[in-house]
Amino acid sequence: MTATDSATSGPKHVAIIMDGNGRWAQQRGRPRLFGHQAGARRIREIVNACPDLGVKYLTIFAFSTENWKRTQTEVSGLMSLFRRYIQKEAQDLHDEGVRVRFIGDRVRLEPKLVKLMDELEELTEGNDLVHLTIALNYGGRDEVARATKRLAQEVAAGRLDPETVDSETLARFLDTCVLPDPDLVIRTSGEARISNFLLWQSAYAEYEFIETLWPDFTKDIFGEIIARYGGRERRFGAVPV
Ligand code: IPE
Ligand code: IPE
Ligand code: MG
Repeated sequence: MTATDSATSGPKHVAIIMDGNGRWAQQRGRPRLFGHQAGARRIREIVNACPDLGVKYLTIFAFSTENWKRTQTEVSGLMSLFRRYIQKEAQDLHDEGVRVRFIGDRVRLEPKLVKLMDELEELTEGNDLVHLTIALNYGGRDEVARATKRLAQEVAAGRLDPETVDSETLARFLDTCVLPDPDLVIRTSGEARISNFLLWQSAYAEYEFIETLWPDFTKDIFGEIIARYGGRERRFGAVPV
C-alpha cells in the first residue's frame, strides 16, 4: 500500500450495517420480524457477489449490544431467526467455499445458538473463497472493553510488559484480530451513523450511506457502490505526491 492509496483496486474488506428491516415491514403493514426474515434472505446474494467484485472479506452487522433494548418479542424472534438461518444455510455456505466467523460477545447468547455458531465456524474453517463475518451481539465499545480486560489479565499474569503495549497489541485482543481493517463501510436505510459498529477497525474506512432499506438491497446496488469506491482517493493522513 502506498501512502495515498488510490482505491482503484476495489475494497478487499466491505462491512455492512444492514439497517431498515423494521421500516420495510412497516411499509407493508407487517410485523417487524417479517422485515428481518426478508433481510436475512438478501444475505446470500450479496455473499455470492463478492468473488466477482474482488471482495474477499464481508462483515455484516446482525445484532448489536444495544438491540437487547427492543421488545422481548422482537429479540426472541431474532434469536430464533439466527438459529434457523444457520441451520438452513450452513451446508450451502460451506459448499460455496465461504468461511464463516462470528464476532461479538457470546456470553449473553443462548447456548443452543452459540453451539450452532461454533459448529458453522468449524465446518467452514478450511474455506477461503469469501470470508464472511457475522457480528452478533456485537458492539465496538464492548469489544474494546473485553479486549482491554484480557490485555490487563496478561499484564497482571506477567506475560505482557505494559511498556510494549501499542495499538497493534490491543488489536491482537479484538474479536477481529485475524481480519484486515474494513476498506468500505456501507449503511442502508438512510441513517448516517455508525451505531457502535467496528469503531476501532474503521478508523480509515470509506463510508457509503444509502437510502435503500436492507431487504431491497441487491447485488446490482452492491456493485454500483463498489464501482464508486474505485473513484475515491485514500490518503491515510499523508499528502498526495
Ligand atoms: C436492522 O433493521 C436489523 C437489526 C437491527 C436487527 P432494523 O430492525 O433496525 O430496522 P429499522 O431501522 O427499525 O427500520
Ligand atoms: C444497527 O442498527 C444494528 C444493526 C444493523 C444490527 P440499529 O437500527 O440498531 O441502529 P440505531 O438504533 O438506529 O442507531
Ligand atoms: Mg434500525
